[in-house]
Amino acid sequence: MVSMDRRPAAFLPTLVAPGTEGAPFVPAFDIADLPPGSMRRVTRGDLDILLADTPDGIVAVDDRCPHMSAPLSIGSLEGCVVGCPLHDGRFDLCTGDVVQMPTTGGLDADGNYHPTWSPAGREPKVDPPGLKAEARRLTRVRRLRYYPLRIVDGRIEIAFPS
Ligand code: FES
Repeated sequence: MVSMDRRPAAFLPTLVAPGTEGAPFVPAFDIADLPPGSMRRVTRGDLDILLADTPDGIVAVDDRCPHMSAPLSIGSLEGCVVGCPLHDGRFDLCTGDVVQMPTTGGLDADGNYHPTWSPAGREPKVDPPGLKAEARRLTRVRRLRYYPLRIVDGRIEIAFPS
């Protein structure tokens, strides 16, 4: 399902991206360049932001997977859920929550451990012991962080961190 109402989605205030509260809004691109149900990347300096049109409205989050920083903008978008192209992690753009942990496992946002897993039809992967396995186990997959946005005269404006 795609949204017909072109408006910013609401998000939990606790999930606002650091440095954006009170930051000025900067025009990014015409809303016509974000078709319903699509997503695209916006870059400013070394900051990459993912804009996505979801059933709850338009969201702006880091274009870095909360697992190991892969660009979510080249992943999949189904409703509110974006799929990461690297380890099959899936994240809810409408709530900020992890929907499916990456295949590498690791810690969720609340610090609970999740083991490695393999997608259906693929051989289970053995997690070899050692420092890399420990790094995977200790990698925390945090909730998404949101950049405030608004729509003014047909343009999307984003509060970039100041
Ligand atoms: S980098 Fe996205 S799931 Fe690992």
